[in-house]
Amino acid sequence: MKLNNEEKMEINKETTENITNFVPYLQYKDNNLELEGKTIVEISKQSSTPFFLFIPNRFEQNYEELITKLHKFIPNLFVSYAMKANYLGRVLKHANILGLGIEVMSFFEILLAEKAGFSYDNFIFNGPAKSAAELEYTIQKGVKYLNVDSLNELKLIERIAEKKKTKQSITVRIHPQLSEKTEKRLLIKKNSKLGIDYSRGVKLFEYAEKSPSLIPTGVHIHVGTNIISHDFYEELLGFVNNYINELDNKKRIQIKEINLGGGLASKSKLDENGFNFEKLGKQIKSNIDNINDKLVIFEPGRYLVEDSFIAITKVLRIKKSWGRKWAFVDIGANSLIPMRYSEYRIIPSYYKGKGQYCNIGGPLCLPVDVVTNEAVDFEIEEKDLLVVLNCGAYTLSMSEQFGYPRPAVYELENDGTIKLLKPSDDIYQMVKESFWSEET
Ligand SMILES: Cc1ncc(COP(=O)(O)O)c(C=O)c1O
Repeated sequence: MKLNNEEKMEINKETTENITNFVPYLQYKDNNLELEGKTIVEISKQSSTPFFLFIPNRFEQNYEELITKLHKFIPNLFVSYAMKANYLGRVLKHANILGLGIEVMSFFEILLAEKAGFSYDNFIFNGPAKSAAELEYTIQKGVKYLNVDSLNELKLIERIAEKKKTKQSITVRIHPQLSEKTEKRLLIKKNSKLGIDYSRGVKLFEYAEKSPSLIPTGVHIHVGTNIISHDFYEELLGFVNNYINELDNKKRIQIKEINLGGGLASKSKLDENGFNFEKLGKQIKSNIDNINDKLVIFEPGRYLVEDSFIAITKVLRIKKSWGRKWAFVDIGANSLIPMRYSEYRIIPSYYKGKGQYCNIGGPLCLPVDVVTNEAVDFEIEEKDLLVVLNCGAYTLSMSEQFGYPRPAVYELENDGTIKLLKPSDDIYQMVKESFWSEET
């Protein structure tokens, strides 16, 4: 069937609207992709590709959506940004200004959080093997939320608190008891290195309760990422409620804080799958007894930051092989880390209509360097500018200098200019570091 031009435009409009349905900051106008009203083509003239763009408004909206909807049902709520998802200074400062807490896992992250201005009242310190130096430092500073992962760690914290003549509140990270079906789907399973099984967890609570230097205040559970399921939370909350009631009834230990970890999928993915924070708030309220006396904590990373970054990349080469069309772009898997849960999507900066299905690969000479698992179906030619969606989580923070420098990061200003937040790696510096011992 041959379509006339008007019919073709209609199809284009439908396709482009579908593409940007769940990322409202991006819209096609006359087939030109616009970010907050500025065309990607114009924005891209200000920098060489590839580069990342941070969209602070989206980060803020994601946070507001979470907090306002949950607050309707949970009076005491503390949301803390998991900086391992993306530790760019600008993101951290923004999180601090918005009133988020900060979840850290190492001295490097502690220093970043301090520099971004977070107070130790808003610190959550996590990790399975925190060093004595890290613990001494954070306890001295008055870290408020200290998640404990093992009995030996608990004893070390006790010794430090004793020496410092202080009483340290602690939260025990446990692995919950869930149905076999749910357990199978978790990222962090029963036999994982993280947390402690729920029965041993009771022993840690008992130990802390008896210690004059420890106060057992909370239970912490983080078992997944990219969660889109209300059923999962229903099951988890049922378990948590029984667990803390048993601690109270059988051991006279009162748990005041419930940390449900991170793990939520990005805002766009939650929207796409009909996940709703009011419903989650209702689930928490109806499952947890005496919710008004508890502090509910979330520590999302991916949810806040995944769709608040895009990357702009250029098509370097087109080829056809084995019946497939390939477009190779200038951003690779050294910065778009190919993880099981990554959801990178590629859209054109200018939509030229439907084309042959095309796979998108990065420039690395590595077979895993494929940007999206699904081929795209729009027309692509060499030198085209493409936009990568959902690339804010676990990209910059996990990126590697594998054969290529890591891209620069910018933020879009209101006047359409872009502000450099972090320069790209300098390849001459990279060369120098490689020959460090010979040149110093
Ligand atoms: C303890 C803890 N909390 C929160 C997070 C953040 O997870 P996500 O980015 O899936 O929200 C992680 C991620 O590994 C984690 O280990």
